[in-house]
Parts: sequence; C-alpha cells; structure tokens
Amino acid sequence: MCGIIGYIGKKDAVPIIMRGLRRLEYRGYDSAGVSVLNHGCAIEMRKAVGVLDNLFSAVDKNPLAGPLGIGHTRWATHGVPSSENCHPHFDCTGNIMVVHNGIIENFKELKDELIKKGHRFSSETDTEITAHLIEEALSAGAADLEAAVRACIARIEGSYALGIFRKDEPHTLIGVRQGSPLVVGIGKDEYFISSDVSAIVESTRQIIYLDDGEIITMKTGGYHITDFKGNKVKGVVKKVTWDVEALDKAGFEKYMLKEIHEQPNIIRQNLRMRVTKDKKGVAFDDFTISDDVLKKISKIYIVSCGTAYYAGFTGKYLMEHFTSLPVEIDLASEFRYRKPKLLNENTLIIAVSQSGETADTLASVYEAKGKGCKVLAICNVVGSTLTRESDGTIYINAGPEISVASTKAYTGQLLSIYLFTIYLAKLKGEMTAAAAAALIKELEAVPNKMEKIMRGEQEIIEIAKKYCKAKSAFYLGRGFNYPNALEGALKNKEISYMHAEGYAAGEMKHGPIALIDENFPVVCIATKGSTYDKMISNMKEVEARKGRIIAISSNGDKNVPQIAETVISVPETAEEVSPLVNIMPLQLLAYYIAQYKGCDIDKPRNLAKSVTVE
Ligand code: M6R
Repeated sequence: MCGIIGYIGKKDAVPIIMRGLRRLEYRGYDSAGVSVLNHGCAIEMRKAVGVLDNLFSAVDKNPLAGPLGIGHTRWATHGVPSSENCHPHFDCTGNIMVVHNGIIENFKELKDELIKKGHRFSSETDTEITAHLIEEALSAGAADLEAAVRACIARIEGSYALGIFRKDEPHTLIGVRQGSPLVVGIGKDEYFISSDVSAIVESTRQIIYLDDGEIITMKTGGYHITDFKGNKVKGVVKKVTWDVEALDKAGFEKYMLKEIHEQPNIIRQNLRMRVTKDKKGVAFDDFTISDDVLKKISKIYIVSCGTAYYAGFTGKYLMEHFTSLPVEIDLASEFRYRKPKLLNENTLIIAVSQSGETADTLASVYEAKGKGCKVLAICNVVGSTLTRESDGTIYINAGPEISVASTKAYTGQLLSIYLFTIYLAKLKGEMTAAAAAALIKELEAVPNKMEKIMRGEQEIIEIAKKYCKAKSAFYLGRGFNYPNALEGALKNKEISYMHAEGYAAGEMKHGPIALIDENFPVVCIATKGSTYDKMISNMKEVEARKGRIIAISSNGDKNVPQIAETVISVPETAEEVSPLVNIMPLQLLAYYIAQYKGCDIDKPRNLAKSVTVE
C-alpha cells in the first residue's frame, strides 16, 4: 500500500519523481504528492486528491523544481483521501518532509504526547508523527537529520518505509526500511529510493535492496547504510536484468490485457529454463533447499492471499494427487490466528506471492519459521522480503506485473507449482520418469493452446457484451478447476464490480442454487476430466432453474452445448494441467465485461497492487 520515491543528485528531481510515481500508481491512487528543496533552498510542495493525473495537472499549472525531493502515492489507511492527509507530511515548522508506506501502530499515544508538548498536527495520518518526532529530536540537540531520524524510529512501532529530507540539510536524503519495502538506486553522483525497482529502473539498474532495520543516508557525494543502532552495514549492489520495455503497454489498451497476452511466452520461457534436457524432469538452478531436507518433509502448508491463494489451492490438489504428502492450503490472514498442527522442521511452508511483500503472507512465514518450518517462496519480485525470509525461492519470472488484477503472475505461480510438484514427486520416488515426461509434454502444449484461445478473443468480447449488465454471477468448477472458478469470480468482481461468487459446483444444491433465476449467469468450467459427468449434472440442475449457463467446454464436446446458453470452447487438455488453459477465457471475459462497463481496469477502486498492511 502506498508508494514512495525520493531523489538526490544534480538533475531536477521533479520529472524523476513524477515518472516514478506513474510506475508506483498501482500501489495506491487515493491521492499523490511531491515535495522538493528548490535551488534557492526553499521547500515547495504540490498535492492532489484522487488519481495521479490530478497531481500531474497541479504540477503543470504550478511547476516546481529542485535537486532533492520526495514523492508519494497513497492508499488510505489512517484518514480519508483528502488534501490534508496527502503526503508528504511535515513538522510544525514545515522544514522536515516525510513520505511513508506502512502503518505506525503507536501513533495515537505519541500524537497525544506531542500535542501536550505544543505540536500542532495538520492531518489525521499516522505518518505525520514522524516529522514531529524528528523535529523534537533536533530541538533536543540531535547532531543532524540522521541522528534525529534514529531517535524517531526508536519511538515508533509498526511497519514503515520512509523517505525524509530537511530544509537545513540541503544535501541529505534519508531512507528507512522496517517491514515495508524500500530499494535504493545508485547512479552517477545521484541516488534514488523507491518502494519498487520499477519506479527507478529507467534511471539506474544498480540496486541495493535494503533490509529491515536499515537506514540509508544519501548525500550528493556518497552514501552510507547503518542499522538502527548506528552500526555500519555493507549494502550489496545488484544489477536489474529485466527489460525496461516490460514496463510499457506494448500497444495494448491496458496493462491487464498485455499481461494476459504475455502468458504463453512466460510459460514457454520458464519451461525452457526448468525442464531438463531429457524432458523427464525438472531442475531449479536458483533453488537452495537441499534434496535431503525435502525428502524429510512430512507435511506441507501453502499460505497466500487473493489470486496467489487460488494458485496455491490448485497446488494442494496437485501435490495430493502426485505425492503421498498431506497438503493444507491456508489464507495467510487466517493461518496465524488458528492453531495449525505439526509445525516443525519437517513441515514445508510454501508461500505464494507475486509481490513478495504481502503483509499477511509474510506474517505467516515469520510465524512458521519461529516453529522451525522450512519455507519455500514462489514469487515474482526478485529481492522482495519474502524471498529473503525464505529458505529457498522458485521465481516465476513473469516480469513486472503492473495491473492490479493479477493474471500472468497466477499462471506463473501455477506453472512453478506444477514444476515443483514434479520435482518433489520424483525425489520421493512417487512419480516415474515416464509419468513426469508425460506431464511435462502436457505443460509444453499449454502456450499454443493459450494462443488458440486468444485467437478467439472476438467471440469472448461478444459474450462479455451479452452478459455485462448482469448484477451477479456464479462461477462453478470441480476438482482441479474449483480454485480456477474462485479465481475467475475474483477477476470479475475486482475489475468490473459485478458481484461474482466462485463455488464448488457440487455445493450449489446445498443453498446457493436458491439464487438462480432466468437472469442469473452461471459460468461453468466443464472441460473433459474425471468430474465431467458430475459437472454435467450440476449444469442440468442450473438449467432446470433457467439459469443462463456460460460453459467453458473442451473442443468438440457434444453434451455441453445442449445445456449451456453460451459455450466457450478450449483445446482439450489433460485434466491435471487444464487450470492453466481454462483460466484464460475467464480472464478475458472479466476484462471485456469491465471494459463494457467502462471501469478503470488497471486500477480498480479501493484496491492496491501490493497489500503491505495486515
Ligand atoms: O503480491 P501477492 O501475490 O502476495 O498479492 C496477493 C493478493 O493481494 C493479490 O493476488 C490480489 O488478490 C490481486 N488483486 C488479485 O488480482
């Protein structure tokens, strides 16, 4: 939630910050602000409520410039989206400027304390407290901004990434990381801080991923990193290797559509990287959990949120199908609050996350690690907190996912789970080389099948037009495609605001079928497989209540078209692999329904890409 950015150097900070904010907009779009120290060493600031374009207009109307500055895009937590609550925030003198991502949990008591000392607050935010604490420390004699920041963070509790500068130290920008992501870009005589590499990669590819509990002080002539106690820390500079072009829309109207279309190639590339030459197995070059450790695993918990949870849910079906291991799937936000059994060194936690920064997922990982479990991350963002906290990571290599609605990360996560399942099952002697080869062959056929579905996109556009006015929809699936039904419904509701519910088709008769009438669209995943006959029966039950069935059906199927009002045909695929193919029309359907409804597809209301608060 929220994106922060900062710059110090010889260039004008404003265009750098504004371009960076555009990249960070997916993290929140309730308001945005920028503040610089101008060439006359005065602070200037522009703020705007609502989407980032409003800030661009404010800056166009009333330009500002300077070699040092910070910017912020907000997803509101404390205080409504308003000009007062928009970052940057400042102290009583207006000389100390702060941007923040995260939550300061003890802000209320600190605020009361500071009000008693005479501080006047201008916002309802938790963030503002930091500017006032820094002000207090400086008036109490702190040697400089860095010392005052250290005094401030000794008082605050919670999660935070901060960007800070001060009028009276015109050559210093400070970044702090504790529980919220912060990366540092190293340029020639210039430095950048940002919540996300994508916001600074056009300026530099040399990146330091700060760890929790670290402060970076950047001056025009160099930088140093310390821990919260003041001990020197050596920051490791890493090079970003992905293409900057990956951040553009490449001619697509929206990022989401571009990302849907990227899926076949992401799957191809990852299969090329991971499948062994003889095509009978899988190898993970970047994977650091030893075979000995994996062989001892007796229980698996998969923890994740949202779309990543549904990918993990399919993982449960897969791992239970191909191995003898008991596998549980948990919403990360629930895992911590129940009492899961057998959390010990023989338990593997698989944490699935696109961003690697989701607070609930991270909290589950910390909890499990505390009990001695091994942690495997399935993640997209290199260097993210999750990957650093885990014993091993399988990167999904999907490239930056900008659209808030996750698509390519979902299929990337699914593919990684398939590959890990093959690896694990072979390691445990529960999958023969021939069975692995057959499964790999099916996976290798997926990209062409996805492309075939995309060639039928026009048909899906027509279907979206036909159903876009519905108030509500059901998404039904069984077995391997039950999690896919949940994901299809999530895609629909999050981008088109149409109420949609995913259900295990067999559950309909236990209650939800009462809702069905002649206006109710029911999307049924009814491709060939072991639950096909049961699915046909469930569809007949819906048909008997006059529900409007939209069926995802295997090419050439003769039964489904007799029951469904509308059919989307997909290439026939082995049941275990079918989720990768069947999700494609559901993503496209959600996209075009949202387009017909005129929704802001890449930035749905009330959402943020990366949920870094619990
Ligand atoms: O970055 P993560 O994969 O951990 O994010 C988890 C969810 O917040 C995310 O999948 C969310 O549900 C998306 N908006 C779904 O499209």
